Amino acid sequence: MFSFKHLTAYLFTAAVMVSLSPALASALAVHKHKTHDCDTSTSVMDLPTGQTMLVAPPTAPLFILLGVGTQNYSCVGTAFTSIGAVASLFDISCLDHTPHFASIQSKAFDVWKDLPASAPLTAVGPLVGAPHLDGFHYFIPSASGTGLSPKWDFTSTTGNPSAFVVGARVGGIPAPTNPAVNIDWLSLNRSDGELAAQIFRVDTVGGQPPASCVAGSGDITVKYTAKYYLY
Ligand SMILES: *[C@@H]1O[C@H](CO)[C@@H](O)[C@H](O)[C@H]1NC(C)=O
Ligand SMILES: *[C@@H]1O[C@H](CO)[C@@H](O)[C@H](O)[C@H]1NC(C)=O
Repeated sequence: MFSFKHLTAYLFTAAVMVSLSPALASALAVHKHKTHDCDTSTSVMDLPTGQTMLVAPPTAPLFILLGVGTQNYSCVGTAFTSIGAVASLFDISCLDHTPHFASIQSKAFDVWKDLPASAPLTAVGPLVGAPHLDGFHYFIPSASGTGLSPKWDFTSTTGNPSAFVVGARVGGIPAPTNPAVNIDWLSLNRSDGELAAQIFRVDTVGGQPPASCVAGSGDITVKYTAKYYLY
């Protein structure tokens, strides 16, 4: 018998099939292939009120990640300028709705700051209850030929060559607490890849360079952690 329940399921499937772009369908397929993630359908990104630069999408996040890495800077004149970042990305969707979630980036930073420079970026997640490595964050030369663009890359962990997203910044705010120490919160939109359409960097800890540098001094790396939400 063709019950109401079946009809609803059928209509839902049909609606999804019609409305999903190939890119989003692919992103969802990427998501489905993961085995260690938890349901994010009730997850909500916590953003400061009273600002319009970062606006949470109406949909649930596809991925909630803990980023552990370094922001790299070069001394240009007497000020540091960003030359990219490298980070490991750990799945923290299973920690959402637990008491660990709100402060996981601070715990991770405390562990990370005390590790020797030789310690691999991948070491931190397992030490703070986020053992599942989803991928890596780093910068690539921009398609325009000028500058660098941030990339979130799950290709090596999924085996799916489309499981990455390159972002272009569409908005940002100074970190709500201690912005001289903690890097900006950002909103980015996809410029390439099929992993997600939008990326947010929030709950940042560390990563800011010193206020000035001595002309001619070398590049520096500054440890940071953050949460990344991918939609
Ligand atoms: C940033 O610094 C790290 C650690 O020294 C290094 O592995 C990485 O290649 C650097 N990345 C960039 C874009 O400078
Ligand atoms: C970024 O993407 C969102 C979602 O697709 C869209 O609403 C917004 O207009 C985009 N922003 C820019 C500056 O392109």
